[in-house]
Amino acid sequence: MREVKVLEHPLVAYHLTVLRNRETPTWEFRQTVNRLSMLLAYEATEGLPTEDWPVETPITKTIGKRLHGRIGIVPILRAGLGMVDAMLQVLPMAEVWHLGLYRDEETARPVSYYNKLPKTNPVDVAFILDPMLATGGSAQAAYQALERWGVSTIKMLAIISVPEGISQLRASCPKIEIHTCSVDQGLNEHKFIVPGLGDAGDRIFNTLH
Ligand code: PRP
Repeated sequence: MREVKVLEHPLVAYHLTVLRNRETPTWEFRQTVNRLSMLLAYEATEGLPTEDWPVETPITKTIGKRLHGRIGIVPILRAGLGMVDAMLQVLPMAEVWHLGLYRDEETARPVSYYNKLPKTNPVDVAFILDPMLATGGSAQAAYQALERWGVSTIKMLAIISVPEGISQLRASCPKIEIHTCSVDQGLNEHKFIVPGLGDAGDRIFNTLH
């Protein structure tokens, strides 16, 4: 079973507090999700396979590196969309594959409403993006969809998470690698993350009414 990597860094702590603050307006929330996603991306891409890439500088020939293999970025709609631009900044060659999942308000179980993953020719590495890992149901559903596609290396990037969701996800998907900026206290009786940051999708898309 793979470990959970928690990004502990003063910049992360600061930006995360901006996200948690209920006074933070949509435009700043969106920018901050972007910044934290880029920091998570840096951490989560460590160890990606590379191959030699000979190039010529203005001075001489040299052997550089480029990433080896196909990379997929998989945002869980809606909130995961807020993390895509940051990932593409550092992985401009990646493919983006969308999965539509929402959490049923009564049962807290994920409901799939969009999945056009192909049946063959999977990417080599997939990064699932979702700002929140709560019960872990949505991440598990995304993982299973990618596994059915045949993806062998699957990493989950969640800005915040909770112990319950992490345990559930690791138990159901032992090969998943989880990267997060914070493991929060836990879930409340409505399965919302505490202290959390509210509903990331609503705060990113200004639909909090
Ligand atoms: C939120 C969040 C995750 C899910 C986490 O999405 O963005 O996708 O809930 O919960 P879980 O770990 O218990 O499955 P939501 O259902 O609010 O949809 P949205 O992104 O469209 O707002």
